[in-house]
Amino acid sequence: MSASLTKFPDDFVWGASTSSYQIEGASDIDGKGPSIWDLFCESKGQIWRGQHGKIACDHYHRFKEDVALMSQMGLKAYRFSLSWPRILPMGTGKVNMAGIHYYNTLIDELLENDIEPWVTLFHWDFPYELLQRGGWLNRSSPKWFEEYTSVVVKNFSDRVSKWMTINEPQCFIGLGHLNGKHAPGLRLSLCEGLRAGHHALLAHGRSVQVIREHAKSKATVGWSPSGSVYRPISKALKDVNVAREATFAIYPDNTWNTRWWADPVILGQYPDEGLKVYGDAAPRGTKAEMALIHQPIDFYGCNIFEAPSVKMSPEGRPVAVELTEGEAISLYEWTLNPDALYWGPRFIYEHYKLPIVITENGCSMLDQVSLDGAIHDSNRKDFIVRNLLSLNRAMDEGVEVKGYFHWSLLDNFEWTEGFKHRYGLVFVDFQTQARIMKDSAFAYHEIISSNGECL
Ligand code: NOJ
Repeated sequence: MSASLTKFPDDFVWGASTSSYQIEGASDIDGKGPSIWDLFCESKGQIWRGQHGKIACDHYHRFKEDVALMSQMGLKAYRFSLSWPRILPMGTGKVNMAGIHYYNTLIDELLENDIEPWVTLFHWDFPYELLQRGGWLNRSSPKWFEEYTSVVVKNFSDRVSKWMTINEPQCFIGLGHLNGKHAPGLRLSLCEGLRAGHHALLAHGRSVQVIREHAKSKATVGWSPSGSVYRPISKALKDVNVAREATFAIYPDNTWNTRWWADPVILGQYPDEGLKVYGDAAPRGTKAEMALIHQPIDFYGCNIFEAPSVKMSPEGRPVAVELTEGEAISLYEWTLNPDALYWGPRFIYEHYKLPIVITENGCSMLDQVSLDGAIHDSNRKDFIVRNLLSLNRAMDEGVEVKGYFHWSLLDNFEWTEGFKHRYGLVFVDFQTQARIMKDSAFAYHEIISSNGECL
């Protein structure tokens, strides 16, 4: 790493992220109810090589070992999600005390190791029983989420004070309800998909209220939408302007955009451009509904993995710039260009003016154990260093960033890609469940212990 003058605030939060279905395993024991992902993985042809998250990283049984690794890495915080059907097997009603016990022991273990728990309430493993009742299309779904939030807050808020409501509505609606690629595999009309999304936003709003009303310690509440952000091909103002335009554009027939989701949450209304583009398919929220969605939140959680580059067309519009030959890309073929963590946070902060937490940033690679037994993932190491330098540059220019969570702590179940993609700072051998810290984990440790000054 090169010597430079980077400076992060003393209270900058250095963390790593995971989600329940992607790591826990233990999918049908100790009273857990089925989630839509349990069922989805059983249907043929959905997941790479028919894989599933029944065991995943077996984190349910090995969380102590994993917390020890976090501690070795020097993590200050750990972002993980709760499995709704592990806590409420039917989605509502009877609470599964074994699920509560599990999360209690995980939280206690983290705190004993001076690692702050950052809890996401919903990272896609929706209770199957509630899907049977219409899922997010049911008008009662915000009520169900309210009940679930109450149970969580009652049991954990004496020790948890950092909360994220929903993770990436763009994905669980777009992939799960519109194009059928993710659970529950629905191909709804745009109108129905957006209605399901409207209910998810109402659920977010009600959940924020419940946390604020009932948390036993002062709560810091945010959410983690996906960040489809773009970077300009040059620093020329015209290119910067089209990159900003692309970042906030809304396209017909899909939900891959920032504003449709974030404007109601942070600004209190669906964007006019979205209402125009989606036309009759767009839900018209009542005044009371929009007010419910628009709860004050404390931070904007950015999940940013890449920022494709755009330039200005002769007509003055953004056009995608193709990857250059041999450009560094991840296994998803996403560009590894580190300006993502400069332009993404900058555009989001300019528009929404909320403190930012990078709740996910990472790259999927094909890591392997070398002859010396180590994992020399120099690309990931470089990705982290360069992205943090970009982030620091944005911070120097006034973007308020409170923390950075690397995706992911562990190699894990990457949804439809199964175990093909490796995202972890820690390598997992899925045959033996052995864990090995990768070179990137040691580098991250150095970054954390110098509070970024070694960058
Ligand atoms: C964002 C999602 O929140 C996470 O679950 C997923 O693994 C990463 N993107 C990588 O695709």
